Amino acid sequence: MNSEEVKGDGRPVQQSHVEMVELVLPNDTNQLGNLLGGRLMHWIDIAAAMAATRHSNHVCVTAAVDEISFLHPIKLGELVILRASVNRVFNTSMEVGVKVFSENSLTGERKHSNSAYLTFVSIDTTGKPVTARHVLPESQDEVRRFEQALFRREQRLRHREETRRIWSEATSRQE
Ligand SMILES: CC(C)(COP(=O)(O)OP(=O)(O)OC[C@H]1O[C@@H](n2cnc3c(N)ncnc32)[C@H](O)[C@@H]1OP(=O)(O)O)[C@@H](O)C(=O)NCCC(=O)NCCS
Repeated sequence: MNSEEVKGDGRPVQQSHVEMVELVLPNDTNQLGNLLGGRLMHWIDIAAAMAATRHSNHVCVTAAVDEISFLHPIKLGELVILRASVNRVFNTSMEVGVKVFSENSLTGERKHSNSAYLTFVSIDTTGKPVTARHVLPESQDEVRRFEQALFRREQRLRHREETRRIWSEATSRQE
């Protein structure tokens, strides 16, 4: 990282940190008693939005969610622990990482079930994107995530351009 990226009115990553805990209830599960993927995605989005807002002190909207893989089923009655923090701020957008664990509170067994990366944009009261303050990575893990976030952003923006091109070609064929 260069010093330009961490100076100014930056704030440590830790200050954006959010830990959210949910209990998996019957209404959150499918016929097998496993947590619904959509419910987990909703919780991931909420945890990430809180971290982005806590960092920027602005309302933040979800601009993009990277691919999410489900490593193992989470069962009815288990706890879901979501840890979210801002990995890197670009200009108006920021990458938030969310790490998800399931915990069987009867045995204490904890498993890492997902990691997700989301892009949030900080907006003003009219919905216009506004520049967010820098984030200051401190621990080794925070510095690693900060550095890797740039690579992921480049991939995302390439993907966005490609999707726009495909959509505009498809739309012009329909006309
Ligand atoms: C997100 C939103 C505010 C972006 O506004 P916009 O006028 O397109 O603004 P820009 O194109 O300048 O993008 C703003 C920032 O978002 C980033 N961005 C936008 N789409 C992105 C994507 N798919 N992936 C990664 N970054 C993205 C841009 O790179 C830019 O980042 P930067 O300022 O840090 O360089 C606007 O598209 C919006 O309001 N979308 C709906 C959000 C919403 O309702 N979310 C809930 C889920 S439906």
